[in-house]
Amino acid sequence: MNKKAFIFDLDGVIVDTAKYHYLAWQKIASELGIEFTPEHNEELKGVSRVRSLDIILNLGKINASQQDKDRWLVQKNEDYLGYLVHMDESEILPGVLPVLQYLKAKNQAIALGSASKNARPILEKVNIISYFDAIVDGNDVTNAKPDPEVFVQAAKLLNARNEDSIVFEDSVAGIQAANIAGMTSIGIGEESILHEAQFNFKDFTHIETSFLDVLIKK
Ligand code: BG6
Ligand code: MG
Repeated sequence: MNKKAFIFDLDGVIVDTAKYHYLAWQKIASELGIEFTPEHNEELKGVSRVRSLDIILNLGKINASQQDKDRWLVQKNEDYLGYLVHMDESEILPGVLPVLQYLKAKNQAIALGSASKNARPILEKVNIISYFDAIVDGNDVTNAKPDPEVFVQAAKLLNARNEDSIVFEDSVAGIQAANIAGMTSIGIGEESILHEAQFNFKDFTHIETSFLDVLIKK
């Protein structure tokens, strides 16, 4: 049995921050007169801040100067961080803690693989940073999902091969990244959206320990 690496995305997988990203982008979009729907938002999940803004500007066919873009990027992050001020353990998504605890009890290696540059402070706020043996976030990578760089780095830090790595993701880009890397991809959310994943669960409460045991022994 080879050593396994369990790699978790952050936003929308561990914590319910995807909604805050959406609200902060929606504010910018509405200021610019761009229609920005939940469907559009799916394309932004897992995608870097800079790339997200480009996608929104593209929706509105807006050609902006770098100066304007920089201003909107700062504004988006300030609005986003405003939503996180009162964040605590209660924002950990249902079923996540039992899964982390089970994997820890089974001596499994756990990493974070997130596009967010705010990942570490969020993990600290919700008090689960100690579960992670490695953290790779938006500050560590140059290529955003669906490029697999973030997950490949995480697997390396845990000394696991890509094929022995298991990725939990709520974004299409993240599932594609895991698949490209040859890792096991587990979609958390709507199966109709995350149909490229090898396994799908509505949320972590649907993941049974017997399934985790299969992944551990694979
Ligand atoms: C991803 C989110 O985890 O992080 C995206 O799904 C977000 O919506 C990206 O744009 C970057 O996050 P941040 O916190 O660096 O703006
Ligand atoms: Mg996510």
